[in-house]
Amino acid sequence: MSSGSRKARIVLAYSGGLDTTTAIPWLKEKFNAEVVTVTADMGQGGDLEGVRKRALAVGAAKALVVDGREMFVREFVWPAFQAGALYEGEYPLATALSRPLIARSLAEAAISEGAFAVAHGCTGKGNDQVRIEVGIMALAPEVKVIAPAREWGMSRDEEVEFLRARNLPALAKKTSQFSVDENIWGRSIEAGPLENPWSEPPEEVYAWTASVAKAPAEPLYMEIDFECGIPVSVNGEKRSPLALVEHLNMVAGKHGVGRIDHLENRLVGIKSREIYEAPAAVLLHKARRALETITLAKEQVRFKDYVAQQYADLVYNGLWFTPHREDLDAYVQSVERSVTGSVRMRLHKGNATVVGRKSPNALYSYELATYDKQDQFDHRASEGFIKVFGLPSKTQNRVQRSQPAAKKGRGKR
Ligand code: ARG
Repeated sequence: MSSGSRKARIVLAYSGGLDTTTAIPWLKEKFNAEVVTVTADMGQGGDLEGVRKRALAVGAAKALVVDGREMFVREFVWPAFQAGALYEGEYPLATALSRPLIARSLAEAAISEGAFAVAHGCTGKGNDQVRIEVGIMALAPEVKVIAPAREWGMSRDEEVEFLRARNLPALAKKTSQFSVDENIWGRSIEAGPLENPWSEPPEEVYAWTASVAKAPAEPLYMEIDFECGIPVSVNGEKRSPLALVEHLNMVAGKHGVGRIDHLENRLVGIKSREIYEAPAAVLLHKARRALETITLAKEQVRFKDYVAQQYADLVYNGLWFTPHREDLDAYVQSVERSVTGSVRMRLHKGNATVVGRKSPNALYSYELATYDKQDQFDHRASEGFIKVFGLPSKTQNRVQRSQPAAKKGRGKR
């Protein structure tokens, strides 16, 4: 670098919380560098202008806020949703899906700001450190990664002390015993009393969903239209991806839909008890799956289940920026091309139930399914079908079964 004219720079992923706030002066001192913060808005709510100002107040040289909301839904949430990605069959991956967007924002800012390093506030025990760092390794391998909270070994009180000692504004004392991460696709809550997997989560962990007791007594019926596996309208009203998810979070949350209590396997080998709230995600996954049952062949549904699991593991494990994900996307886009149609859902007291499905591509045929006189299924064709279908079983049993089934039980003892 030319004769000390410009200080070295670090780009920090900044949430506005105590850890990343403390990281600003810590990084400046330790690396004799300027800190540029990046905060990605993914619909987590809260006052992001306030977050930006706080970064500057504790000494950031520059504080950037990226509006990533629409991008988050279109580029990250929808592909994973179409794939049917639910980690361990439960978790719609709200936190996990936001990390590649953060990693990409950091990589882009590092390049445009000429930074030698990026930094994040993740601890050494979680999945998020892996997701962000693996993302940086893929997108900007020449950029160094610093994880202050993994290195400094300070408690929360010590962090407050660290800021106070420098006459920097410390945050008000932590009020919640929970650790919460949130974006438009869901809330993830951990720590405090949740760490006892035997105890029921206290009502206060929930912010988006009503309890069964408080949910309306009357069910709500709703119709969701999909195009190629993506929801496009609710009750006939077209909405942008972001507006649609926001709307469903509100409506389904009111009916208590979307609470998940999951004891999951972290990538770093720890089992962890997580509470998730994801009203739109839970509702939409159920609805899309219902539409798949009527539009896809049996083999497509079976194979897609396997892809869904692969996709969920890949997202959870921070492998978004990989050719494998692109390959899975190609399959998913292909299979979802016929998943167009409508699903009718009933929301009631914490449950989202599929009550109807229809599609111009429906493989369901009334004439084949009915027991009425419109029946067009050729019953007599079944006779020959069964003869051939049962042939391997018949053959193997004749040759290898030691006793005929009919005699079993009477023999031996
Ligand atoms: N266990 C989830 C994941 O790894 C959520 C973590 C959320 N973090 C939090 N501080 N609540 O994706």
